[in-house]
Amino acid sequence: MRMLRGCVALALAGMVVAGYGCTPKKIEQATTQVIPDGTIDPAKWGEVYPEQYRQWQQTAEPTPAGKSKYKKGWDVGEELPDKLDEYPFLALLYNGWAFGSEYREPRGHRYMVQDQLEVDPGRYKAGGSCLTCKTPYAPILQGNMGKDYFSKPYQEVRAKIPKEHQELGVSCIDCHDNRDASLKISRGFTLGKGLKALGVDQSHLTRQDMRTLVCAQCHVTYSIPKDAAVKSTDVFFPWQGSAWGDISIENIIKQLRNNPPSGEWTQSVTGFKLAFIRHPEFELFSRNSPHWQAGASCADCHMPSAEVAGRKVTDHRVMSPLKNDLKSCKQCHEETPDALRDKVFAIQDRVMSQFIRAGYATATAAKLFETANKASTAGSALDKNLYAQAKDHYEEAFYRVVFIGAENSAGFHNPAEASRIMTDAASHAAKAQALLRQLLAQAGIQVPAQVDLELAKYVNNRGVKKLMFKPQHEIKDPLAGK
Ligand code: HEC
Ligand code: HEC
Ligand code: HEC
Ligand code: HEC
Repeated sequence: MRMLRGCVALALAGMVVAGYGCTPKKIEQATTQVIPDGTIDPAKWGEVYPEQYRQWQQTAEPTPAGKSKYKKGWDVGEELPDKLDEYPFLALLYNGWAFGSEYREPRGHRYMVQDQLEVDPGRYKAGGSCLTCKTPYAPILQGNMGKDYFSKPYQEVRAKIPKEHQELGVSCIDCHDNRDASLKISRGFTLGKGLKALGVDQSHLTRQDMRTLVCAQCHVTYSIPKDAAVKSTDVFFPWQGSAWGDISIENIIKQLRNNPPSGEWTQSVTGFKLAFIRHPEFELFSRNSPHWQAGASCADCHMPSAEVAGRKVTDHRVMSPLKNDLKSCKQCHEETPDALRDKVFAIQDRVMSQFIRAGYATATAAKLFETANKASTAGSALDKNLYAQAKDHYEEAFYRVVFIGAENSAGFHNPAEASRIMTDAASHAAKAQALLRQLLAQAGIQVPAQVDLELAKYVNNRGVKKLMFKPQHEIKDPLAGK
């Protein structure tokens, strides 16, 4: 507390309602020019707001290397790592669909469509749905095409975007009202529905809420339900039964497991039909994290105010705060950037250690299912009840591992919650293993104490590109032996 600046002390003393007090002063732009309705082209916006435009363009540049430990993203002079090389157990767990072939770390906002075009094409097999958190044309395409937007092939839907913008990623219009550049939610068809599920009245949202929600249009998890012909029918946020500030992993898993259409793929090791969880930054952060309680928003940390030529602007070069020398933290923290960075690393080391351990425990359970399934096919009678119980624990472990693996802060956005989720994942995985060992023993099948994960089978020759394991990118348990 000593180390915190005034506005936060007030927030902690309960004297300000979440969202007020710490919000940086709104930066008004003196301009008389008006951006015509329906203007998507960022260059046109740039004629009115050149500084924000220039910074937004900078998200195309690589970020400084050596400053972040877990988010290498696209660093100067470094090769873009793949999560499947960083965490090899994920290659085993995701084997069976494109996420198990190629799962690159992101390069940055300007590359979101390009990155999608370069990745294993199986990754956008779901169709137009995959453009939802990529192109500023998504709301228009969805409005014009209705259900076809979700189900038609990705390239066919993308071809409807004006040629010069087919590789354009998140743009001014995604976050702003063209009339006055105030913040706006452009994705009513996804986030709008999600907020409704949370019981949020959009007319009561504060400016500080908006500084988080513009990001929550995309940095959230979603499901792509399928019809009988396995065509995508929607993009939905599994937030039913949750509340504002309280979207729990338990509720998300419940939604996914109770909605068979969420089963998007079949895991090859176990043969189970499973759902998936993507980049749940908003969900993890907003579940009562210390910074959510302090009234901080995504923009506070990722878009600090900056001074350019004597004028204040909101920094539109969105990136990891660690790569930006923690400038944004200064509005509340008095520690030196190095001291703060060490604190961030300590949190991330703890959560990533738990993640790696829970991940391997879950992968081990998957291999035991493989053994059990083989035995069953060969005619062994297995205890159905034990099998069902093991499967139940396995899925609970699996989704928790996917959640933290897909959340992009390596635990920082909500340290205690991330740690709790990983503790539960490890305990579910251990229960699944114990039940499977019992079931296999009853059927007279020998299982070694140390199960061979056969990782080489999963990390090599991945997908159409036949990608091979890059051991130099592996992230080992930072607390190994501790
Ligand atoms: C991902 C969302 C996002 C995108 C994309 C985005 N902005 Fe912003 N912008 C913000 C946020 C957040 C603020 C801070 C608003 C506030 O505090 O009320 C902001 C503030 C502004 C402001 C107010 C002055 C200032 O600097 O705070 C202007 C003008 C602006 N943006 C222009 C643009 C332009 C032009 C583009 C496109 C080149 C753009 N923005 C793209 C999120 C975005
Ligand atoms: C239209 C969807 C969309 C919106 C809105 C959006 N993002 Fe992103 N963001 C993405 C995608 C997609 C990526 C991955 C980019 C890639 O593939 O390289 C990403 C990547 C990032 C990264 C990692 C960048 C890097 O250097 O590796 C950060 C940080 C980030 N977003 C923060 C934010 C914040 C903060 C906001 C709100 C102010 C926001 N985003 C709004 C879609 C979005
Ligand atoms: C209190 C500050 C803080 C807040 C609030 C915050 N973040 Fe972060 N965020 C961080 C830090 C620190 C990291 C870790 C960066 C690293 O390890 O390099 C991070 C990482 C990320 C990344 C991955 C960056 C990369 O380079 O790949 C994304 C994406 C992201 N945050 C988005 C969001 C979104 C969206 C929100 C709001 C829902 C949010 N953050 C709220 C501080 C914050
Ligand atoms: C809006 C104000 C605000 C901003 C911006 C902010 N913080 Fe915090 N931070 C807080 C508050 C309040 C706490 C809780 C303090 C407590 O409970 O002791 C906190 C706690 C922390 C903690 C855990 C407590 C500790 O000292 O070990 C870390 C680490 C941290 N912040 C890092 C960061 C980093 C890194 C950034 C920038 C990326 C950042 N914060 C931005 C207000 C802020």
